[in-house]
Amino acid sequence: MNNGLEDVVAAETQLSHVNGEAGQLIIRGVSLDRLVAHARYEDVVTLLFSGLFEPIADAAEFGRRLGQKRVEIFAHVETIDRDLLALPPVDVMRALIARLADGDDLDTALMLLAAPAVFLPAVLRLKRGETPVAPTPALSHAADILAMLGARVPNDAAVAALDAYLVTISDHGLNASTFASRVVASTKAGLTSSVLAAISALKGPLHGGAPGPVLDMLDAIGTPDNAQDWLVRALDQGERLMGFGHRVYRVRDPRADALKGALKQLVAAEPANRDRIELAEAVEQSALAVLRLRKPDRPLDVNVEFYTALLLDALKFPRDAFTGVFAIGRTVGWLAHAREQSLEGRLIRPRSVYVGPLPQQAA
Ligand code: COA
Repeated sequence: MNNGLEDVVAAETQLSHVNGEAGQLIIRGVSLDRLVAHARYEDVVTLLFSGLFEPIADAAEFGRRLGQKRVEIFAHVETIDRDLLALPPVDVMRALIARLADGDDLDTALMLLAAPAVFLPAVLRLKRGETPVAPTPALSHAADILAMLGARVPNDAAVAALDAYLVTISDHGLNASTFASRVVASTKAGLTSSVLAAISALKGPLHGGAPGPVLDMLDAIGTPDNAQDWLVRALDQGERLMGFGHRVYRVRDPRADALKGALKQLVAAEPANRDRIELAEAVEQSALAVLRLRKPDRPLDVNVEFYTALLLDALKFPRDAFTGVFAIGRTVGWLAHAREQSLEGRLIRPRSVYVGPLPQQAA
């Protein structure tokens, strides 16, 4: 019987490559450690969009156009009503983006980069009973997100930390949400539809929903000397340790170290979070030792969510907003993949492998 697999081919992409054995992430030919050291969010957008949309002079021009889009998008904030606000932040964000026009051009792409960055801070402020803060187009994307969240110009260390986060998570091969984005793009539905599908895939706890539970785990452990007993008990109860393990990486997720570096720099400037980091490092070491012992055949190491949780907490994002911040950073990757797919012009239509019963032959 034809098992339907002859059509299954790996998607070709020029955008990013995840080498799970070597623990390396390459974005458009540049390795993540280099990118985090030298690029800001606007540079990475320029890099990922190059050749896919009409050319923009440079990252500074991108920044200017993105700033204008944040201002335009802010007009939609007043449509947020009480019913919408009762939903989790990422769901409010998705509902607001669903009201935006679809399209396949640079203008739509810039609008979709601006939308989550404007909507999330506004939603968080409204949930706290505060008035939303309008964007400041002259600020960088990272600085403006923090300014819209906290209603004052953020300090340089906080901006650098959020910028490093946005760069680090900008793209990551054909993960579940990016695949969802490409599938929708392949039908020519438009970039807004692609981003909506991607957010829906992202919000699940096995994808972008893990960092909140990482903080819950650290809270429950409380002090470094409690780590080993707590972790052993959790595994005895059949639980998974949040922030550990990955489908592709068989070694340490390179994004974890990029974020740990950003967090350490932030803590050097704002020592308030020092205890939290010491606890996290103790939990990381204990978890790695316990997992090696319990799962000797399965290399399990720290993943991006572990230090995401600490970094976003230190930047004062509430834990139920972490998935939304992830969406702010990953939208550029979703858009680049969607556009690459739509330019390729081929419908993604994998065939399933039928394992059900066959019709009975007439006697
Ligand atoms: N803690 C404890 N055990 C884990 C584990 C974790 N975080 N991740 C995987 N394992 C174990 C599984 O229990 C399984 O053990 P078994 O063979 O004895 O049953 C084995 O490792 C393989 O698990 P599997 O589910 O096949 O791995 P996967 O590649 O499908 O899982 C994740 C990838 C990310 C879903 C998984 O590692 C996980 O659930 N991690 C915690 C959630 C998380 O941090 N998600 C964010 C990912 S970026």
